[in-house]
Amino acid sequence: MSDVRLRCIGCNAEFDPDEVIYSCTECGGLLEVCMEPPKATFDDFSKRAFGVWRYKEFIPIEEGAEIVTLDEGGTPLYRCDRLAKWAGVRRLFIKYEGRNPTGSFKDRGMTVGVTKAKSLGSKAVACASTGNTSASLAAYAARSGLTCYVILPSGKVAMGKLAQALMHGAKVISVKGNFDQALKLVMDVSKSMGIYLLNSINPWRLEGQKTLAFELVDQLGHVPEVVAVPMGNCGNISAIWKGFVELEGAGLTKDKPRMFGVQAAGAAPVVEMLRKNLERLSPVKAPETVATAIRIGNPVNWPKAVDAIRRSSGLYDSVTDEEIIETQKMIACLEGIGVEPASAASVAGVKKAVMSGSMNRDAEIVCVCTGHLLKDPEEVISVCGKPIEIPPDLKAVSEMIRPEAPPQTQ
Ligand code: F0G
Repeated sequence: MSDVRLRCIGCNAEFDPDEVIYSCTECGGLLEVCMEPPKATFDDFSKRAFGVWRYKEFIPIEEGAEIVTLDEGGTPLYRCDRLAKWAGVRRLFIKYEGRNPTGSFKDRGMTVGVTKAKSLGSKAVACASTGNTSASLAAYAARSGLTCYVILPSGKVAMGKLAQALMHGAKVISVKGNFDQALKLVMDVSKSMGIYLLNSINPWRLEGQKTLAFELVDQLGHVPEVVAVPMGNCGNISAIWKGFVELEGAGLTKDKPRMFGVQAAGAAPVVEMLRKNLERLSPVKAPETVATAIRIGNPVNWPKAVDAIRRSSGLYDSVTDEEIIETQKMIACLEGIGVEPASAASVAGVKKAVMSGSMNRDAEIVCVCTGHLLKDPEEVISVCGKPIEIPPDLKAVSEMIRPEAPPQTQ
């Protein structure tokens, strides 16, 4: 793969793929991994297990590298007719990323990112995180014998995610600040201490995450019209779009979807920028939302996400915490799919867009549901209530079960 380069999306400067840099040394722009379109076809892919590495020709890791994997990707695509009816659309699918090894889409990126770290000879990896990135990096670092450091915003990381980072043996550092401050710190410390950084500013992460686009085409047999994605640091929507662009570039598909980026109302700088048709992002200083995964005010990948939305004639919107919680409950109760709050933002955005008329109700829509319900059990108890306790006798149980029973939670 001698044609592989890192390229700046701002000034087109090119760098060796083995250089450990996370932004352009000429202009500070974001980097992306580039190569000539590979020759592989979906027929070739179909001979391999369903998952990230099925599409290995498109993941430019050097031949012979030891792949660090937990069998990520290959997640289900559920057709959701009851939810579609509730949202007011005809055909709605959920791509359920909660089924990844650590329960979120981050694993797609980490299998590639940690494989790259190993092949470069790194001994330690680090990230800042709202939770899922740290859970995933901790697991993949453990799998490959690397030391892992994670920097988290104190008090704002869901319990399930914190539990994962701790149990997988990461050194967990809690900073009294928000994610944006934690990210700045980890970027500085990785540089000064020679630790490999695995936030989504690292373009190798996105090479893994782009495989979601490949899987959708594999599962549907065609490109969907709309792909709705919750946006936080904006790596995932950028990666999925890159996947669709590369599929078309390689002649494997003939069109691309409209990308629909959804943010939480209290942390929506990209949506604000697009609404006002600005050329630069104004960060949100004190982002706040129940969807702690996307509680981000200064997303590093905003130029890539804005490009994806603009180039795809896409859509963008923000949704309130109330809309997120209601949608999370509907996905769980109408379809049996358990997602964390940030994931519900994609479906909430679709409902809002159809209601307001900005999206055609006949479109075929895929909502990416990025993380598992069990990631954030405390949010569940706070929005559903605790079950009511009763004494261990038949009369008390019968009272609760009869049709006009009192509420089962308090
Ligand atoms: N959904 C979930 C469940 C997430 O954990 C994240 C990001 C997103 C959506 C947004 O993805 O950042 O690529 O736009 N979580 C990161 C983390 C920031 O640290 O776990 P994005």
